Amino acid sequence: TVPFILDTDTAQDDCVALIAGLLDPDADLRAITMVAGNVGFDKQVRNAHLTLNVCGRLGTVPIHLGCRQPMVVPWVSAENVHGDGSGGLDMDFAGTATEDEHAVDALIRLTAQEPGELSIVAIGPLTNIAMAAVKDPAFVRNVKRLVIMGGSNNGRGNITAAAEFNFYVDPHAARVVFEAGFADIVVVPWAPLTLQDAVFSREQLADIDRLGTSLSRFFLTVCGPTLAFDESVGIPGTTHPDSLSVGVLLHPELALASAQYHVAVETESELTRGYSAMSWGVHGLEPNATVVERADGPAFHTWITGFLATSTEPN
Ligand code: BDR
Ligand code: CA
Repeated sequence: TVPFILDTDTAQDDCVALIAGLLDPDADLRAITMVAGNVGFDKQVRNAHLTLNVCGRLGTVPIHLGCRQPMVVPWVSAENVHGDGSGGLDMDFAGTATEDEHAVDALIRLTAQEPGELSIVAIGPLTNIAMAAVKDPAFVRNVKRLVIMGGSNNGRGNITAAAEFNFYVDPHAARVVFEAGFADIVVVPWAPLTLQDAVFSREQLADIDRLGTSLSRFFLTVCGPTLAFDESVGIPGTTHPDSLSVGVLLHPELALASAQYHVAVETESELTRGYSAMSWGVHGLEPNATVVERADGPAFHTWITGFLATSTEPN
């Protein structure tokens, strides 16, 4: 099994990433660390508990609350896309505890306990990861692999023309992380990768509907608002970069093509804030990340759908 921590701004596709992290037999999810991103912080915590509950796993993985603001700039939400992040789902259950230890301290402590053994999948703004790197430089050495969902590899943004959401929200954190010296960073960009290989089409959603499980219903409810948004901007389905990021850690063969890049993130310009410049080696820059260029879309869909077909016992 692969031991890892999921750093998340839990809403919609983060919930699906968490489902995979909880239910994949190859996954050893040690902790969930929460970072400001998609929707209000307390809603994100609620979405994580909802997801644990629907998986029948409440109380099995510690949730550490992390940074509630980006490092420098004010927080911006994606509530226009995600709503509350779980499609208005209302479930009643007990057991919504969170840990007292701050997420940044948990990231530092857990990776220090097993140097070079724990990986991190970061599927929100990189604030917690950057703060951990700043607070304790040993953290950078102790992390095995850092999978980052963020940026775009063709300049196409989803929150501005130039920027993908996670890097836009905390561009300074993203810059710190790419300059920190992590030995093994894998980037799952939004474009073109997600749009090519990690979209669930209406047809695939209909197949999921026919599964008739608690998890399939949860998936469709949670993905409803983003499906509406994605379709309104011409994407033929709902986008799932976050669960693909977990997939790339647990099953590297899901990444069909990857290459070494030097990734740098713009922090100064108003027009291109959060833009990720991905240099493929012709500009004399040392690579600092492996960027996934193509994924096995059909295998990814099958992998996710397998979890949604599982019978679980929510409270
Ligand atoms: C990223 O932004 C969030 O809205 C999604 O959860 C994903 O992590 C895509 O740009
Ligand atoms: Ca996310």
